[in-house]
Amino acid sequence: MHMNNIHPTNIYLNREDKEQYLKQNGKVIWITGLSGSGKSTLAHGLERKLAQRGYLTQVLDGDNIRTGINNNLGFTEEDRNENIRRIAEINKLFLNCGVITINAFISPTNDVRAMAREIIGTDDFIEIFVDASFETCTERDPKGLYKKALAGEIKNFTGLDAPFDRPDNPELVVDTNKLSIEEGVELAYEYVRAAVRW
Ligand code: PPS
Repeated sequence: MHMNNIHPTNIYLNREDKEQYLKQNGKVIWITGLSGSGKSTLAHGLERKLAQRGYLTQVLDGDNIRTGINNNLGFTEEDRNENIRRIAEINKLFLNCGVITINAFISPTNDVRAMAREIIGTDDFIEIFVDASFETCTERDPKGLYKKALAGEIKNFTGLDAPFDRPDNPELVVDTNKLSIEEGVELAYEYVRAAVRW
C-alpha cells in the first residue's frame, strides 16, 4: 500500500462547526444482538423518535450496507470482520458531519465490537445490546432463517454454528424478552437523548 503519498487536506469546516449547524452532538449508536432480536425495529423506532425532536440521524443496516458497499461479503468470520470494519469507517465519516448514526448489525464477537469502538473512538460509541435469547428468536423467526438454519440449510448461522458473545460492558441493555417495542425504544431514546443534546 502506498499510504506515504496520501496527505489529508486542510479542512475548512470541522466537526464542531457542523454540530453547531445541526445543534446536536454526533454519536454512533451501535445496536448488537442475534438475528431477529429486534435490532432494526429498535433502530427505526429510535430514529423516528429522534427525528420528531429535530435530530438528524442515519440508520445503517443490512438493507443499505450488505446490498451496496458490502455486497461482496458473506458470513465467514473474516467477512463479518471486514463488514464491521468498513461500517465503522463509514460511521466515522458521518460522525465528522455531526450526524447521529444508528447501526443495526449482529456484530457477533467481543473482538469485532472492540474493533468498531476503537475505530470510532469510545467517547462517541454507545453500544446497545438487544437481548433476546436464541429460543425467543427461533420462536419469532420473522425471516424464516432459524427454520432453515436448524434444518442445516444455512452455514455459519449466528448462535448455531457461528458464535455470538454476549457483550461484556454495553452502555445499555434492552431486554426484548421482557420489554415491548415501545418500552425498548423509550429506554434507548432517553439514554441517547442525553448524549446528543447540544
Ligand atoms: S454481521 O455478523 O454483523 O456481519 O451480520 P449483519 O451484517 O448484521 O447481517 C446479518 C443479517 O444477515 C442475514 N443472514 C445471517 N445472519 C446470521 N448468520 C448467517 N449465516 C446469516 N445469513 C444471512 C440475516 O437476515 C441477518 O439479519 P438480522 O437483521 O440480523 O436478522
